[in-house]
Amino acid sequence: MKADILFKQARVIDGSGQADYQADVAVCGDRIIRIAPAIREKADRVIECRGLALAPGFIDVHTHDDLAVIKRPAYTEKTSQGVTSLIVGNCGISAACAVLQEEVPDPLNLLGEREEFVFPTLASYRARIDALAPSVNVASLIGHTTLRNSCVASLAEPADADSTKAMCRLLREALEQGALGLSTGLSYGNAVNASTEEICALAALLPAYQGIYTTHMRTEYDGIIEAMHEAFRVGREAQVPVQISHHKCAGAANWGRTTETLRLIEKYQQQQDISCDVYPYRAGSSNLDLKQVTTDYDILISWSAPHPEMAGKTLLEIAARWDTDVHQAAARLLPAGAIYFQMHEEDVRRVLSHPCSMIGSDGLPCDPNPHPRLWGTFPRVLGHYSREEKLFPLTTAVHKMTGMSAARFGLRQRGLIKEGYFADLVLFDAERVNEAGSFQQPKQLAIGINRVFVNGVLTWQQQQMTGQRAGRFLSKR
Ligand code: ZN
Ligand code: CU
Repeated sequence: MKADILFKQARVIDGSGQADYQADVAVCGDRIIRIAPAIREKADRVIECRGLALAPGFIDVHTHDDLAVIKRPAYTEKTSQGVTSLIVGNCGISAACAVLQEEVPDPLNLLGEREEFVFPTLASYRARIDALAPSVNVASLIGHTTLRNSCVASLAEPADADSTKAMCRLLREALEQGALGLSTGLSYGNAVNASTEEICALAALLPAYQGIYTTHMRTEYDGIIEAMHEAFRVGREAQVPVQISHHKCAGAANWGRTTETLRLIEKYQQQQDISCDVYPYRAGSSNLDLKQVTTDYDILISWSAPHPEMAGKTLLEIAARWDTDVHQAAARLLPAGAIYFQMHEEDVRRVLSHPCSMIGSDGLPCDPNPHPRLWGTFPRVLGHYSREEKLFPLTTAVHKMTGMSAARFGLRQRGLIKEGYFADLVLFDAERVNEAGSFQQPKQLAIGINRVFVNGVLTWQQQQMTGQRAGRFLSKR
């Protein structure tokens, strides 16, 4: 069979975590059709890859890009990093299945504006993605807070039996329509009063659909061990795999405790299926939460509705300018977004290098001054942590963003360079690849990402979008 694209003499990092090798790779239509030491057949386009690494397109397993990718289907912030698939709907908030009144409840407001929430079912969201063909593939979890918002009388209370039944109905329908699983965001005000039983009732629906349970746990601060026990209990009772979202030990009092949390994961892995995702930075970011305000570490304001001029300044600077303390300054900035330097570098490294972790950006696409993870997560893992800091080999870094991720979330025939698999591919310069942004200048194109192909279509080259897009909705069914 004649190939559309032939990659010549690529250093293939196939996503399995196994050793790299030199080969030619042929693509026809949306598939990889042949991998061999030397392919002599003709192809419409021949790409000389000498000196470059060819990997499966990166999978961002933790995103809040549900609506951003619809608003900006040429999704530069992720495509420029070599990302070819996104998992949306994390942390309890999915745009799919959201039915809103006037206000957008916190933290659903991380996803977009009121008028963008027009997807009462997963089927309607899926149809929109397929019609748009964004520059990346999209798969979706269903958010518990989204379901609560549609079904409970008060978000401040646990769901009663009738509301739980209604949430289960919505979730089952979404699973039928191809959702990957259920996510929770239990530390947020609009879910913190949900009972564990409420979560268990929903999670019990997942096994029939091979769904996964992902959780932004009840707390990542002092009570993290109890929060992990709750997550594991849901996994055991419902018999579903558990993914701890953006695993971290937050707050100065908890620095160093990932030795404890990772040990706990290892212990429970003997009896159940547990993994986590992680972003490669010691700062987190979300809506500004008065409960998280402290002077123990820097807090950078990423946006503020009443004081947009304060974006990019630290809370301490703002408090000094207003001649007040950080707590009062924070209260005056609300609603607002913040970047918290709440982790210890050693903890970040320990989680990144643990065999149970995969890479997810948790980037916030609506922030005017976003955490740099939105533009830099994947090249930073490859360049900073693997090449420069030698935290793990490049093959491991790639595995944590491709093969491992696809297997975990059930993205069929993706995440590996393998004959018959989809041609989601990234060609990059392993000697140069890195993030270019910083907390001050976060919106920067990654360095060293040479070309990106999505379903066999060249989407990114020479540091720009090609204008062609071929992203699809990736369904579990
Ligand atoms: Zn989260
Ligand atoms: Cu998140």
